[in-house]
Order: sequence, then C-alpha cells, then structure tokens
Amino acid sequence: MTISPKPASRHPANALPKSRNLTEVAHRVTREMRQARNAHRGGVLWFTGLSGSGKSTLAMELERRLFERGYQVFVLDGDNLRTGLNRDLGFSAADRDENIRRVGEVAGLFAEAGMIVISAFISPYRDGRARAREAAGDFHEVWIQTPLEVCEERDPKGLYRKARAGEIRDFTGISAPYEPPEAPEVVVETAGRSVDDCAALLVEYVDATFKLPDVEP
Ligand code: ADX
Repeated sequence: MTISPKPASRHPANALPKSRNLTEVAHRVTREMRQARNAHRGGVLWFTGLSGSGKSTLAMELERRLFERGYQVFVLDGDNLRTGLNRDLGFSAADRDENIRRVGEVAGLFAEAGMIVISAFISPYRDGRARAREAAGDFHEVWIQTPLEVCEERDPKGLYRKARAGEIRDFTGISAPYEPPEAPEVVVETAGRSVDDCAALLVEYVDATFKLPDVEP
C-alpha cells in the first residue's frame, strides 16, 4: 500500500481526515473563470448574534436584494439546516461546534463555487467562528448586534419565554453563553433601526467588497 504525500489543501493542518488514502483532484474551472462569469468574487458573510437578533430576517432580505442586483447568492440558515444536514445535532457546546464546523465547510464550498454565502447561525463560540473562518476562505464576520433585552422583548418564536420558564435548557443568552466577536468586519446595530436601513448598509458592503471593478453583476 502506498500513501500519497498530502497535496496542498484548503483544510487546516490540525484537521486531518480520518483516511490517509486520499488524493485531492484539481478543478479545471478556475476561480477566475467563475468570477469572470459572475462579475463578482465568491465569499462568506458570516452573520453571528443572539436568537431574535435579526440574523435570518436580514439574511433573507439581503439575499433578495443581492439576487435582484445580479449576484449569485444563497442563505444558509440555522433553523433550516438543523432539519436536514444537521438534524442529528442539539445545543450542547459540542453539538454547536459540530454544527458550525459543518456550516463552515459548506459555506467554503459555496464560496469556492463562486457564490456569496450568507450564513445565519448564532455561532456563540469565538473558537468555532475562528475555525469557520479558516475553512471558509474569504470570510467576513457580521455581528448582528442586538442587546439581549431587545431580543427577549421581540421573542419572535416565544423561545425566551420558554427558556425563562425552564422549558428549554442551554438557551443562548439565558443559560448558555454568547461570546461577542472581538474584531468583526461589520457590525449591524438593529435596535431602533429598520430592516430596510440595515439591509441597505449590507448591500453597500457587498458591492464594495465582492464586485469586480467596472463590471455589473
Ligand atoms: S448555534 O448555536 O448552533 O449556532 P443555530 O443558529 O444553528 O445555533 O440555531 C439557533 C436556533 O435554534 C434559534 O434561532 C432557535 O430558533 C433554535 N433553538 C432551539 N433551542 C435553542 C437553544 N437551546 N439555544 C439557542 N437556540 C435554540
């Protein structure tokens, strides 16, 4: 049995695969070819914030606006992925880490395919977000910064009420931690601001960051 030397990989060195009998295959469609077709680079907008902070609302509104502007864009949302790819995971620290690890990898693949990925996950741990950043490549952390009191007041899914009543364990902000980002690329303060304003700010950021000069997507 021969073991091939490990080719250059986008995976961090501390995350070696279980099998060593793997040979990565090179694509014949390059990143530049995809960018030229799309008129924008691929990359990840990683939304993080408390439940009820507005991540999903803003992600879906931003997706709609970017799509209308000609971008290849897709939202990966916590509640949605937890019914499929991540349906075996709960809310322990280990399960959240695995949730974020998988999403980081999937987001990286979408970005490599040339798309703008908007991911909307609480992603409460700094370490987990740092690992997602490594896996995902062109990564922009977007802190949807809404104070806990405001999220609890909004309580769109009635989960804070249940968490306070002890009906949900390990609820972020109540009985499980949220570690705020230390150096996010973007901060969106949603309290007292309209969805429209917040989405407009994010569209501006995407245009400035991902659009190729002199071409309309
Ligand atoms: S993460 O912490 O692993 O990033 P994720 O974003 O996928 O979480 O899922 C969060 C969503 O799951 C919340 O918006 C809420 O609807 C639901 N949820 C159910 N139980 C919990 C809990 N214990 N803590 C936080 N969110 C929960």
